[in-house]
Amino acid sequence: MLQRLKRLFSSQPQPETDGHGIVPDAVPNHVAIIMDGNGRWARKRGLPRIAGHRAGMNKVKEISLAADDIGIKVLTLYAFSTENWKRPTEEVEFLMRLPEEWLAKELDTLIARNCQIRIIGETEGLPSHTARVVQDAEEKTKANTGMILNIALNYGSRREIVAAVKQIAQDVQEGRLSVDAIDDAAIAERLLTRGLPDPDLLIRTSGEVRLSNFLLWQSAYTEFWFTDVFWPDFSREHFFQAIRAFQGRGRRFGGLK
Ligand code: FPP
Repeated sequence: MLQRLKRLFSSQPQPETDGHGIVPDAVPNHVAIIMDGNGRWARKRGLPRIAGHRAGMNKVKEISLAADDIGIKVLTLYAFSTENWKRPTEEVEFLMRLPEEWLAKELDTLIARNCQIRIIGETEGLPSHTARVVQDAEEKTKANTGMILNIALNYGSRREIVAAVKQIAQDVQEGRLSVDAIDDAAIAERLLTRGLPDPDLLIRTSGEVRLSNFLLWQSAYTEFWFTDVFWPDFSREHFFQAIRAFQGRGRRFGGLK
């Protein structure tokens, strides 16, 4: 709001915006979302938690297409964490069925949009029916050159970092890497997000204000945007609101303006 008022009263020429007030040349490359609040959304309606997850699943297409429409290159969605196994078996089993249900409905649209689907997380820890469908979607879309839809499934950032550290130790031990060559890039290229830009913007819905073991290394200079809206109520317009807020931020990466 403040940024918009400042722009309104500034004598500087203003950048062109699209119909949503978004500056096309300054769209974040990579947006990450913690899709939170499914359970509370359901409770508010007297529904079981799984109804909230299904409603949450139905939002994934709307937001993915919104991201693609404005030219975002990578959208990373936190669908299931390495800690989510602590939930009741019934809920976990339901969540593990959602990728199949969702891909059966939406994969054709994503292919028509030239989107590439990638999974980050420990796929070997997934039930075989889940692993099979997500690997099939990755395979079918691997040559696509449009937006990368990166789904974090059985993902935990600390474990990802530990695995990278172990690889580095092994590479040093076996003479492929010298200790002096260990730098930021050496770690980044051993993470599950290797080759992708770090997220520019991270959105978390539902009023919780924490990272919950998501992209800890990658979000060193990410802009955060939080909203009280529960994920199943999160709309295209909320998403564009987050993008506009991002465009009003001054990013300095530790330097001066
Ligand atoms: C957190 O809300 C949400 C999850 C653990 C699951 C998110 C999954 C989806 C939105 C569906 C994903 C589907 C595909 C196809 C990728 P919560 O249950 O912790 O909510 P609460 O904090 O209100 O209980």
